[in-house]
Amino acid sequence: MRVREASAADLIAILSIGTTTPWDKSAYLQRQLSEGNIAVAELEGEVRGFIVWNREFFSLPFVWLIAVEPAHRRGGIASALFDYVERLCAGSRLYSSTNESHAAMHAFFTKRGYRRAGTADVDPGDPEIFYRIDLT
Ligand SMILES: CC(C)(COP(=O)(O)OP(=O)(O)OC[C@H]1O[C@@H](n2cnc3c(N)ncnc32)[C@H](O)[C@@H]1OP(=O)(O)O)[C@@H](O)C(=O)NCCC(=O)NCCS
Repeated sequence: MRVREASAADLIAILSIGTTTPWDKSAYLQRQLSEGNIAVAELEGEVRGFIVWNREFFSLPFVWLIAVEPAHRRGGIASALFDYVERLCAGSRLYSSTNESHAAMHAFFTKRGYRRAGTADVDPGDPEIFYRIDLT
C-alpha cells in the first residue's frame, strides 16, 4: 500500500469513493483537493481511500473526513491514511471527530489510542464527538 498527497488526477477516484458514503460532498472534496488537503491510499496503483486534513482547527491539525472503498474496508487502509497524517504531525496534537452513532469510527479511534476531547451539537440528535491524540 502506498499513501501520498493527492493530485488533480485523483479527483475522479476521490469523488467515486465519496459517493459510497452517506454524504454528498463533491463540491467540498473538489475544494479540499485544490487546497492540497487530501492524501490518498493506493493498492496496486488504484486509489482505494482518501483522507481530508489540514492545520486549521484553531491552528491545530484536524482530520475532517476519511473514506475507504467498501470492498476494501477492514484491510488497514484507513489506518495507513492516519499513519501518514500522524507522521506529518509528529510532536503536535492531532484532532478528529465523528458522530456519536458511528460505532466503527469510535472503535477506530479507541484502537489507535485517541481520547475523547469534547462534544458539539452539530447534527441534531447525533452529537459530534471530538477525539485527540498527542503525537511524539
Ligand atoms: C470507517 C472507515 C473509514 C474505516 O476504514 P477501514 O480501512 O475499513 O479501517 P481499518 O481497516 O484501518 O480499521 C482499523 C480498525 O478500526 C476499527 N474498525 C474499522 N471499521 C470498523 C467497523 N466497521 N466496525 C468496527 N470496528 C471497525 C477496528 O478496530 C479495525 O481494526 P481490525 O480490523 O483489526 O478490527 C470505513 O469503514 C469507511 O470508509 N466508512 C465510510 C465513510 C465513513 O464513515 N468515514 C468516517 C466519517 S467520520
